[in-house]
Amino acid sequence: MLLSYLRERLRLTGTKYGCGGGGCGACTVMVSRYQPSTKTILHYSANACLLPVCQLQGAAVTTVEGIGNTKTRVHPVQERIAKAHGSQCGFCTPGMVMSMYTLLRNKPQPNMEDITEALGGNLCRCTGYRPIVDGCKTFSQESNCCQANGNGAGCCLNGDSSPQRSENLPPQLFDQEDLLPLDPTQDLIFPPELILMAETEPQVSQLFRGDRMVWVSPVSLEELIQLKTSHPQAPLVMGNTNIGPDIKFKGAWHPIIISPTRVQELFKVTKTPQGVCIGAGCSLSVVKALLEGLVQEIPEEKTEIYRSLLQQLGNLGGQQIRNVATIGGNIVSAYPNSDLNPVFAAGNCILNVASKRGRQEILLNKDFFVGFGKTSLKPDEVVLSVFIPVSRQGEFMRAFRQAPRKENALATVTTGMRVMFTEGSSVVKELSIYYGGVGPCTVSATKTCAAVIGRKWDEQTLSEAYTQLLDEISLSPSHPGGQVEFRRSLTLSLLFKFNLQMLHKLWEMDNKVGLIGLETNMVTFSGCHKNVWFFFQAVVKDQSGDDPVGRPIMHRSAISQATGEAVYCDDIPKMEGELHLVLVTSTRPHAKILDIDISEALQVPGVVDVITSKDIPGKKFRTFTGIDEDILAQNEVSCVGHMVCAVVADTRNQAKRGAAVVKIGYEDLPGPVFTVEEAIEKQSFFLPKRMIEQGNVDEAFDKVDHIYEGAIRLGGQEHFYMETQSMVVVPSGEERELKVYLSCQHPTYAQESIAETLGIPSNRVSCHVKRVGGAFGGKVTKTSIIACITSVAAWKTGRAVRCVLERGEDMLITGARHPVLGKHKVGFMNNGRIMAADLHYYANSGNTADESLLVIEKILLHLDNAYNVPNLRGRSVACKTNLPSNTAFRGFGVPQSMLVTENMINDVAMISQYFLFLEQIREINMYKEVSLTHYKFEFDPKNLLRCWDECKEKSDYDRRRKSIGQFNQQNRWKKRGMATIPIKFDIFCVCVSVRQAASLVHIYKDGSVLVSHGGTEMGQGIHTKMQQVASRELHIPASLIHITETNTSAVPNTCPSAASFGTDANGMAVKDACETLYQRLEPVRKQNPEGTWQIWVFHIDKQEGQPYAYYTYGACCSEVEVDCLTGDYRTVRTDIVMDIGRSINPSVDIGQIEGAFIQGLGLYTMEELKFSPSGVLYTRGPSQYKIPAVCDIPLQFNVYLLSGSDNPHAIYSSKGIGEPVLFLGSSVFFAIKDAVAASRVEAGMVGPFTLDSPATPERTCLACNTPFTQKIPASKQGSFQPWALNIP
Ligand SMILES: Cc1cc2nc3c(=O)[nH]c(=O)nc-3n(C[C@H](O)[C@H](O)[C@H](O)COP(=O)(O)OP(=O)(O)OC[C@H]3O[C@@H](n4cnc5c(N)ncnc54)[C@H](O)[C@@H]3O)c2cc1C
Ligand code: FES
Ligand code: FES
Repeated sequence: MLLSYLRERLRLTGTKYGCGGGGCGACTVMVSRYQPSTKTILHYSANACLLPVCQLQGAAVTTVEGIGNTKTRVHPVQERIAKAHGSQCGFCTPGMVMSMYTLLRNKPQPNMEDITEALGGNLCRCTGYRPIVDGCKTFSQESNCCQANGNGAGCCLNGDSSPQRSENLPPQLFDQEDLLPLDPTQDLIFPPELILMAETEPQVSQLFRGDRMVWVSPVSLEELIQLKTSHPQAPLVMGNTNIGPDIKFKGAWHPIIISPTRVQELFKVTKTPQGVCIGAGCSLSVVKALLEGLVQEIPEEKTEIYRSLLQQLGNLGGQQIRNVATIGGNIVSAYPNSDLNPVFAAGNCILNVASKRGRQEILLNKDFFVGFGKTSLKPDEVVLSVFIPVSRQGEFMRAFRQAPRKENALATVTTGMRVMFTEGSSVVKELSIYYGGVGPCTVSATKTCAAVIGRKWDEQTLSEAYTQLLDEISLSPSHPGGQVEFRRSLTLSLLFKFNLQMLHKLWEMDNKVGLIGLETNMVTFSGCHKNVWFFFQAVVKDQSGDDPVGRPIMHRSAISQATGEAVYCDDIPKMEGELHLVLVTSTRPHAKILDIDISEALQVPGVVDVITSKDIPGKKFRTFTGIDEDILAQNEVSCVGHMVCAVVADTRNQAKRGAAVVKIGYEDLPGPVFTVEEAIEKQSFFLPKRMIEQGNVDEAFDKVDHIYEGAIRLGGQEHFYMETQSMVVVPSGEERELKVYLSCQHPTYAQESIAETLGIPSNRVSCHVKRVGGAFGGKVTKTSIIACITSVAAWKTGRAVRCVLERGEDMLITGARHPVLGKHKVGFMNNGRIMAADLHYYANSGNTADESLLVIEKILLHLDNAYNVPNLRGRSVACKTNLPSNTAFRGFGVPQSMLVTENMINDVAMISQYFLFLEQIREINMYKEVSLTHYKFEFDPKNLLRCWDECKEKSDYDRRRKSIGQFNQQNRWKKRGMATIPIKFDIFCVCVSVRQAASLVHIYKDGSVLVSHGGTEMGQGIHTKMQQVASRELHIPASLIHITETNTSAVPNTCPSAASFGTDANGMAVKDACETLYQRLEPVRKQNPEGTWQIWVFHIDKQEGQPYAYYTYGACCSEVEVDCLTGDYRTVRTDIVMDIGRSINPSVDIGQIEGAFIQGLGLYTMEELKFSPSGVLYTRGPSQYKIPAVCDIPLQFNVYLLSGSDNPHAIYSSKGIGEPVLFLGSSVFFAIKDAVAASRVEAGMVGPFTLDSPATPERTCLACNTPFTQKIPASKQGSFQPWALNIP
């Protein structure tokens, strides 16, 4: 693939590997091709990980390095994304840059829709997207309207009470005046030699021979048909978006591949009055543009099918996928949930097919799709084109889809529905309904259609149709993909949507009589546009211009990250003799290892060795909170994904091949435990259990007016850092020294672990962390264990060893956030005051203890959140299960803990008389004055209350609450909900030994300064902040200060960069070192007061952290709109007020706030880890596991930093911010719950109800209890094996 060619052969490492399957956009490049027929150049973005190099003959590929760099000229796209603070860890940045760059090459003045469409295929795990969009938006001429288009509350066109931008303009995060202009004349030109080649050189067929396969690229149709006749099993590789992932992830292997991308017949487009015939080789983007043109050109009534296809194409994959995936490939791939096939089939489209037997037409109908990935095409047949007819008078067509994420996600259920009415009446002449996602292939609801044809389209007919449909489209309760009830209900509710729209059409045809007010528009808000507003305090007027503290300084590496020059671990050039390591993991959840047979692996060319536990010279295990964990499994495996051994080989592919043939003999052990219920039943725990209590809970329950017991399940969360676990271990060959380059949060821990594993002193191991491409807690313990294994390999072979996990391996092996089952019993008075609460937390820890005991401790320390419950008890336990071990994740148990608490508050509100005023219940129970927490920590909640009040005021809570009520009364199938959530988050590390920091500051004779400290740069901007601290303390401009890496040789015994106290701890250490140096320079300064820094330093040469504990406070109000028929939701608006003291760098801190909020939104509403009944993780890449994308940013997103707040406990009065805001993502969860409650009221259901987290469309839709969900018979528990486990 192009990606490995770029990175490994050409050493162009700016293009990143994030997933290898087209799902993340980190590898985006621009491909340009000259079209001799039109003499134009076509530019399009593409995923290098799916682009076969053999297909690129005659194409020019532009990578991020090609558009600009810091040595010559930075391109405006690179500059603007960087200056708008759109690059945190920076790993996604080159991909973002290339998507935007390609857009600008095609459209120098894009609109917001173009921008969000261009970025739709790129994932970012740090920023929350807003700053990236902000940077890109500077190329657009559009105004900053919120794009709600005057539709409801919150739109600026309605004179909404949002902050007035024009009056008293507060400080901005970046200065638009200060940006390089876009000058298309400076862009690289298309290589003239390629134009010449295309114009003059005859096209000839090509053949590439590799070790294991042959690639043939014909140029004529005859040749193609001949090849297909001789090699009927050889696939035709067009966009490679189906074949590529099959080869990579499913191990498919094809000895011969035919690539007909140069066969002109496959790209022909013919327009006739009857319809359009589109060449099978046309990309989906080309098809989209073509249909968009046709919709403009021909009368509207003829475009029903075209518009339905456009509806699907708008959400199919990301832009990069649509640019290469072909229409023929999509049809022939016959995905069960293909978006286009149901529309083609319902729309009576026809395939033109050729083979050596001649040409024929095939109707795309139910007989064409015969099974999973199978069609009725013969193996030697080639699809030439697809004919899409124009629609006829009285014919209507609609397409609907419901997916786990609005964009760039394969649909759960998708459909094409077409009806033709008898002229002048509502009698149905033809009806065709096809679904995707409810069977092994695209399926037809033939019987349902037959039952409706010939009848009037009315309520009676449709009501019978639902019954028929339910019978006809049935799924087994164990259906692959699960979500059976949801899918079945979607088949009905999507038909209902079609019904509403057809009733409207009939009403229009019937002179618009009756049916006034019919609710046909299911979504008020669409698109990804948004309005943003920030407020932060400007620095005081007399602060020196050279002092950067408190100013929104750009991330110090942002430009290098945007140009692709920033070096991540896997970008380090290959060392002489370097080997690659691939891990072999268990395929059994719980088994004895009988033997490990490595003989075949050692025969694989290039394989050098296989490392097992026996090779470990020192300690074979790590000990976490007193519990041992094997580095490599010794006698027993306890989860699928347990690391057993590792293969080292000359190349990564050889190591992979070797790993595939390692044979491990197992003897299964009985009764693996997967869920917390099973763990409770079998008392499978990591001990000790934890308990905390204040007051007398049992006595208090006797005195309250009401007692309620409830529960909530919260799923885990994959870290999904964009850079997977990566390391290179280099033995120096002398005195047992090792240099370890790795992407981790805690280099000191890695150093200690490696030394103990090898049985050598720590002073022989130096760990180097240049930067980390995202971590979020997932790069502490797990990284260290993998680093130990890699070090053993380097130790044994005496050669440098590189280990970079693939996305799927990383997700399988390294664990996630702990899923939690939370139960509460709450006692409260008639006025809503909670007097007693008893909470139980069961965390699914997986197979090893890791940091679970600390996580369950932290859960208990935060269970009060912002509430003063006089009698409060919490118990927590870490359940030992046979799933991969879970680990630290941003918030470290707090997001789980507080969700249970807030859910309890929600239940209280729903039972009490205050049902409509959830926020009042919160207020009644909040801390009001200086108080003691349940762990006896005294604090003043003044700023918590200020955040709460300010949030309500800024969000215009009272007015919007009323208008939501009105909206809900007027709409049956869409509901709005709103929730305001407070947070009190302590910045405090439980473990005293890691609450320390050190720093080393070198002042060189030329005046430049090198700062080393213990924090690792993961995108949170710690190096930028340390630069600001040093700048202030040394009284020199930040430009004189450099930070090169985190290095255990320069700064020993570092603390982990975690728990939001990296800046506090390291900032104090840098400040201390700089103060000392500045004082030492004082005599020189006094001697020459007029001198400069450079002159003073030319004449010249015990850190300690401070233990502290304080709270970061905040409040967040979110409003959502839910489509009750599908469970889809849109965050209409979010307002966050955070007290983070005096921000050292508002842009970095606002970036952290937004990034954490969006990560929380993912946790509570979207991200779902799924395991098979035998404990195998299904969700191993972006195709199966959805993190928020650019389309998930709230339409209006306001962030305010509380003014006038101080914090005597941390550097310059700032506060830790990395973790706290994540929980505020739950405001979206509770807003969804609020909207669901409104829907349930209409179904006559009041009072508390369970909505587990994440509130996915599935859970939301089922909880809405519409007439359609009610029709689905529940499968009898225990009578079947579900496709997936219900974790926790
Ligand atoms: C990240 C990602 C997201 C996606 N999201 C969606 C989505 O939301 N909705 C959706 O519907 N799809 C989605 N897809 C699927 C995508 O649309 C299809 O993979 C794509 O259309 C296949 O086209 P291709 O040209 O890449 O096919 P290839 O991978 O090149 O080939 C696929 C198959 O088609 C056969 N074939 C191709 N052309 C012909 C021909 N002319 N005649 C006969 N056989 C032919 C090949 O032999 C091969 O078996 C997604 C894919 C990815 C990777
Ligand atoms: S690495 Fe190519 S899309 Fe993820
Ligand atoms: S900045 Fe986007 S993934 Fe880190």
